[in-house]
Amino acid sequence: MSNDWLDTVVVARYHATARIVVLDLVSRDGVALPEFAAGAHVDVLVDDAAGLVRQYSLCGPPHDRTRYRLAVLAETASRGGSLGMHRLRAGDGLRISRPRNRFGVSDRARRHLLVAGGIGVTPLLAMAHSLQVAGADYRLHYCARSHADAAFLDELEHDPRVRLHLDDGPDEQRFSIASDLGPPDPDTAVYVCGPGGFMDFVISAAQGAGWPAEAIHKERFAPVENAGARLADGTFTVRLARTGGAYEVKESESVLDVLLAQGVDAPYSCRQGICGECIVRVLAGEPDHRDDILTDRERAEGLFTTCSSRAHSPLLELDL
Ligand code: FES
Repeated sequence: MSNDWLDTVVVARYHATARIVVLDLVSRDGVALPEFAAGAHVDVLVDDAAGLVRQYSLCGPPHDRTRYRLAVLAETASRGGSLGMHRLRAGDGLRISRPRNRFGVSDRARRHLLVAGGIGVTPLLAMAHSLQVAGADYRLHYCARSHADAAFLDELEHDPRVRLHLDDGPDEQRFSIASDLGPPDPDTAVYVCGPGGFMDFVISAAQGAGWPAEAIHKERFAPVENAGARLADGTFTVRLARTGGAYEVKESESVLDVLLAQGVDAPYSCRQGICGECIVRVLAGEPDHRDDILTDRERAEGLFTTCSSRAHSPLLELDL
């Protein structure tokens, strides 16, 4: 991983809900943190010794370079990431990457509909800050299990641009594609973030209502279900255009696994098809795209994720 780590310190910590902890980070040396655009995330080195890295969205105002804000849900099936984050206290150090962003605000849309499920509110909160400062036309739909499970209510609850949709609330306030998104509009962008099932439901319902895929911007926190299981089918060769190296990718390996094992300095971060850091260009061969990051246009332009996608053709040549 080609990370240029930033050393930060936790300066504030509080619980936004029983299961969501909010951490404010400042740089250890007191200098301004790197700029970021709404929707960005950072890699966090949760456990250096174990090499445990997780991605968290920046949810504070993007114009504030004095501190970054993260909000972390304690996952019931945590493999150490979220629990490690919950153990942090004010004064603790934390290494993070520079912000990365594949979920930015569309500069073509004139209206923005943000649809958050649970902890998926984090990147959308930064977008709301940014759209508010820009004086843009936006609405944030925040779906949560209950009032007690919804974070940041002190800043959201009385904002007329925010609609809360609670699973345990009356039917009339539940999120509805028909009434909350409305019919497709070429000047409107839809942004969706939340648990996989929530995202699948919103995206397929919106597309069923006629919203085109290009109008729907999405950020997943977890790989698409069963994406890993689909790795097991067929061997192919990956060839690197710049060095001429050619390597066999077996059924159980990803292209990225093979490149790293061969000592190739390939870009990557999450290794789960979430962050987009491993994207490279395909120069020859037929890719078998298995990520949920690239748009149809990006695929048509030859972009490819080495951590999750494979090849339909026996040979795939990459611009590496
Ligand atoms: S390394 Fe994150 S998408 Fe491939």
